[in-house]
Amino acid sequence: MSGGPVRKRRPRYSGKFPRRFEQRYKEHQGDPETLGKVLSAGKTPAGSHVPVLLRETLEVLSPKPGDLVVDCTLGRGGHTRALLKAIQPGGRLLALDADPLELPRTEAVLRAEGWGPECFHAARSNFAGLSTALLDWGCPRVDVLLADLGVSSMQLDDPARGFTSKFEGPLDMRLNPSRGVTAAEWIARTSAQSMALCLQENADEPHASGLALAIAGKSFATTGDLARAVRLALGNRPAGEVDKSIRRVFQSVRIAVNGEFSALDALLRQIPGCLKPGGRAALISFHSGEDRRVKLSFQAGWRTGQYADIAGDILRASPAERRANPRSTPAKLRWAIAAPRAAGDSCSASGNGV
Ligand SMILES: C[S@@+](CC[C@H](N)C(=O)[O-])C[C@H]1O[C@@H](n2cnc3c(N)ncnc32)[C@H](O)[C@@H]1O
Repeated sequence: MSGGPVRKRRPRYSGKFPRRFEQRYKEHQGDPETLGKVLSAGKTPAGSHVPVLLRETLEVLSPKPGDLVVDCTLGRGGHTRALLKAIQPGGRLLALDADPLELPRTEAVLRAEGWGPECFHAARSNFAGLSTALLDWGCPRVDVLLADLGVSSMQLDDPARGFTSKFEGPLDMRLNPSRGVTAAEWIARTSAQSMALCLQENADEPHASGLALAIAGKSFATTGDLARAVRLALGNRPAGEVDKSIRRVFQSVRIAVNGEFSALDALLRQIPGCLKPGGRAALISFHSGEDRRVKLSFQAGWRTGQYADIAGDILRASPAERRANPRSTPAKLRWAIAAPRAAGDSCSASGNGV
């Protein structure tokens, strides 16, 4: 026997489909060689989240030492970490996230890196309650605001959350699993007419009417059950087209279950009142339903003088970023700058309230 390095075997799983994603993906077992291969193949390692449009976000938000910042979507903390670094010394950041499972994990990671309560506060909150969250923090207006919409790779790649057809899991899809109805319950109680509307409005699904008849009001226990029903309904279509429809059905149902458009509309209404004069906001969206809302709201705020300037066009990920992180491909970044106001601001980075 040679005395070479002992290679650890991957845990075995029984059956055709591994139950847990760390059983399926070797990069989850801390194998740097596998991780390198996944990254060099231009794929995002399962269960990890790479912040999208990071350089562009920092450029448009221009965070400075001493700034007050709200990151409305903490996620895995990629943007938060970069913003925290940019506002030191003296800056403070409030990070919100609706997800009670992922938020404490990300907070623990950032605390372990040394970001203490003097500069970083995390709160489980829907960004629809932005003004209240800022008041609770002690600063009603900030210099910089970011919202990176949708779900993180951590959430998508966790089969227990039921966000994707890639993994067999309970059909849940709630950002906050302790509130509201699951995707399975929502589908079971939705009429074909409402489902067709949902598929059209939330994902521009071309087969909305046929798919609505096939899935609305039905009982699906798992992500696989729902995906199979879509496949069956589109039986004679090419496989690539069917896969796209499955993705759009999952996206539409997720948006409906979490009330994502109404939360975004509420956030957009509050942004002008939550920015200091000259404060900067950036929103990253991942599909046309979100981007349309951001664009119209920023344009309306510019016409009424709430914003001094807004993005003329969307910013997209560079070809290099798309290659390195394919999940950045649909991302669209828009920004707005609050108009100067006569009223002074009572809150500074050295004020109380963390
Ligand atoms: C794309 S991820 C953010 C990733 C993050 N920027 C990073 O670099 O890791 C979106 C996050 O927003 C959260 N989220 C989605 N809708 C929300 C809402 N209405 N209120 C608060 N958080 C929300 C999700 O739970 C998820 O963690």
